[in-house]
Amino acid sequence: MGKFTEAIRKAAEKRIERVEKKEEAKPYVVRTVSDSKIDPHVLAYFDPTSPIAEQYRILRSNIQSINKAAPPKVLAITSAIHGEGKTITSINLAITFARDLNKESVLLVDADLRKGRLAKALGLAPHNGLADILNEGAKTEDLLLNIGIENLHILPSGNRPANPAELLGSAKMRNFVSEVRKQYDYVFFDCPPVVPVADAGVVAHLCDGALMVLQAGRTQKGIILHAQDRLHTSKVKILGYCLSHIEYHIPEYIYRYL
Ligand SMILES: Nc1ncnc2c1ncn2[C@@H]1O[C@H](COP(=O)(O)OP(=O)(O)OP(=O)(O)O)[C@@H](O)[C@H]1O
Ligand SMILES: [Mg+2]
Repeated sequence: MGKFTEAIRKAAEKRIERVEKKEEAKPYVVRTVSDSKIDPHVLAYFDPTSPIAEQYRILRSNIQSINKAAPPKVLAITSAIHGEGKTITSINLAITFARDLNKESVLLVDADLRKGRLAKALGLAPHNGLADILNEGAKTEDLLLNIGIENLHILPSGNRPANPAELLGSAKMRNFVSEVRKQYDYVFFDCPPVVPVADAGVVAHLCDGALMVLQAGRTQKGIILHAQDRLHTSKVKILGYCLSHIEYHIPEYIYRYL
């Protein structure tokens, strides 16, 4: 068989493989919420040409370059302590991935079942979510939300349960993760902080790795090292670190390279 014929045969096989892969998972039907008032810190949404939105594009390409052949698809976003910027980073990152030219499908899940603030940061009214899937057996496709970005689905944390760590460590959670892994190109879990509770380690263990958000000028080295130890003990791969709350001292008209 000539080289040309061989190349056509391989391309045809690849296409069939792709079609079969898509057919494995039936697409979810999603509710669109038009009343969202997104946190102004979500610059990937409000100002995609800003230097900060560009930093999220750099972060996206760093994540995709970790392993070119098989980039991490299911990521946990966490930090050592509370309030370091996990939720805002998760939203910016999910939007940046969804706005990639390849139009890959993205799911953003609020896995902070104790204090989940994802829906609030998106300006949404409280909705049922992950806790209700794990607790009550609600169906994923009934709870997904869309904020107007076609290929980005949102799953809030839902009603606060009495036993978050147990729910996140349950077989139902493992099934949920493998289900959404098949459905989406990328899945981001916005997690609680590592030091005060066990939840992030439990969730991140089911993911391809964790991204740690560090608040510049606040979180001390000892606390970060402690959080790293906790994640390593839970057999979590730390994919990288993302600094938040950085202040730019260069005037934007110089920094903005357009
Ligand atoms: N990169 C950033 N620069 C400046 N402010 C930020 C940044 N990221 C988040 N913030 C602000 O910091 C506060 C905490 O952010 P966020 O809710 O994302 O933190 P978190 O780590 O998810 O908190 P928690 O541990 O409570 O879940 C919010 O008021 C948010 O608007
Ligand atoms: Mg949060």
